[in-house]
Amino acid sequence: MKISVISKPLEKLSAELLVTFAVEDKLLPEEKLADRFLAGRVAKLRQSKDFHGEANQTRLIFATGSTPRILLVGLGKQKVLTLETIREAAAAAGSELKRLPVKHAAFLLPSLPSLSPQTLAQAVTETVLLANYEFPYYKRPGKDRAKLENLELVTAPKDVARVKAGSITGQILAEAIMAVRDLGNHPSNVATPTHLAEHAKRIAKGNKNLKVKILHRPEIKKENMGALLAVSQGSDEEPKFIILEYHGRGDGPRVVLVGKGITFDSGGISLKPGEKMEEMKYDMAGAATVMGVIKAACELGLPLNLVGLIPATENLPSGKASRPGDIVKSRSGKTIEIISTDAEGRLVLSDALDYAKKYKPDLVIDFATLTGAIVVALGDDLIGAFTNRERFVPQLKAAAEATGEPLWPMPLYRGYEEFIKSDFADIRNLGSTTKYGDAINAALFLQNFVDYPWIHLDIAGVAWTTREKPYRPKGATGTGLRLAIEFLKNFRK
Ligand code: BES
Ligand code: MN
Ligand code: ZN
Repeated sequence: MKISVISKPLEKLSAELLVTFAVEDKLLPEEKLADRFLAGRVAKLRQSKDFHGEANQTRLIFATGSTPRILLVGLGKQKVLTLETIREAAAAAGSELKRLPVKHAAFLLPSLPSLSPQTLAQAVTETVLLANYEFPYYKRPGKDRAKLENLELVTAPKDVARVKAGSITGQILAEAIMAVRDLGNHPSNVATPTHLAEHAKRIAKGNKNLKVKILHRPEIKKENMGALLAVSQGSDEEPKFIILEYHGRGDGPRVVLVGKGITFDSGGISLKPGEKMEEMKYDMAGAATVMGVIKAACELGLPLNLVGLIPATENLPSGKASRPGDIVKSRSGKTIEIISTDAEGRLVLSDALDYAKKYKPDLVIDFATLTGAIVVALGDDLIGAFTNRERFVPQLKAAAEATGEPLWPMPLYRGYEEFIKSDFADIRNLGSTTKYGDAINAALFLQNFVDYPWIHLDIAGVAWTTREKPYRPKGATGTGLRLAIEFLKNFRK
């Protein structure tokens, strides 16, 4: 999509449709401009009480001249307006653009005292792009529908530079998110561990700040990643361990991102029930998020050093698969009793978290669709956030607030540690209470393999949705990427 920033009187615009924001309590300066352009018809509409500027309310007005349509979009009361209000309203406009459909749209950015032109432009760009997301790869195209191809942001001359900066950031983030969605939506016969490795190579290609290294089975063996190998044993697909390095600034903080890359989770010998099993193609959402964060961080030029570590494999049953009761030696040297082959995420992560120690990290963040229990606890909006350093909690909350990607702090409760003690090995991969509190048991399991400041984000709920919103269709969501970038932007050693 072509995105441009312009400063022109409305009569000089040439878009098919101009989006204009409105608040409930008064006429914004931009709404007045639109009113003048439409010879007083906006004011009339408002007097008639047909449109109050209620949040996400839209109203189409036909005009004459080069811009034949104006779409008024409500923001609600100005007092309670936040960036999220803008995102939702822009998404409502985005849905209208899709429905009509419109190829060339302009957005008249509102002047609002509480929001800078830059953040406003970023939010609008992000949302419009995300609202336009489609996954067309396996479907014959339906009737020829026009797609939005050209997006113009209209602003005052003094704000052009800041609006440009915001829209570039918004575009970088939205494109990274859409790549995460694509990877999560591709079926497991396409998005194999090898495919993830190829994706990492593509990201690194042509970027001198990015390096990629793929460990294949022999190197994985050499690294003694016994837990990853145990999970991959039942599959005919080759496991991969993907390493992406972004060098943004020599003396900057060192952060390692670890992403669960199970390209299909059948449960293995501890086979899952059939219902919804097809959704387990997104069990590599953590891996996709890590690659997306590194791509975006690099394009944004964040002044830090990032390493992405992705243990990638399928989890399938076969005559060669791991069995419940098997004991394997992880890279750390600790032995693990596999009680359930379906608790495979914590197995592959244990080797990656141990590998992260190599980098002497200031912080490690893992992203994993780790447990069904977190979905039960927090649903599909909230990320479950665990950390061994309390000081990260307010920083995580601030990033969640700024990006509209909410999270909820979860406890690494010591009282449950006894549940993952094994009679036969150093540790077991399933809590002895099986059913309850498994998101915590899983996090406690991972904690055994870290010796650095660490954040564990359980994204099992948020990474996939059956509940669409205007900027988030059904399927893989890409949630967590913007949160991570915002957090990293403000991270200091
Ligand atoms: N990938 C799943 C977790 C999951 C469940 C993600 C639902 C997204 C939606 C994970 O590997 C798993 O199977 N966890 C088991 C653990 C259990 C065996 C203790 C679960 O949550 O059922
Ligand atoms: Mn599983
Ligand atoms: Zn899994």
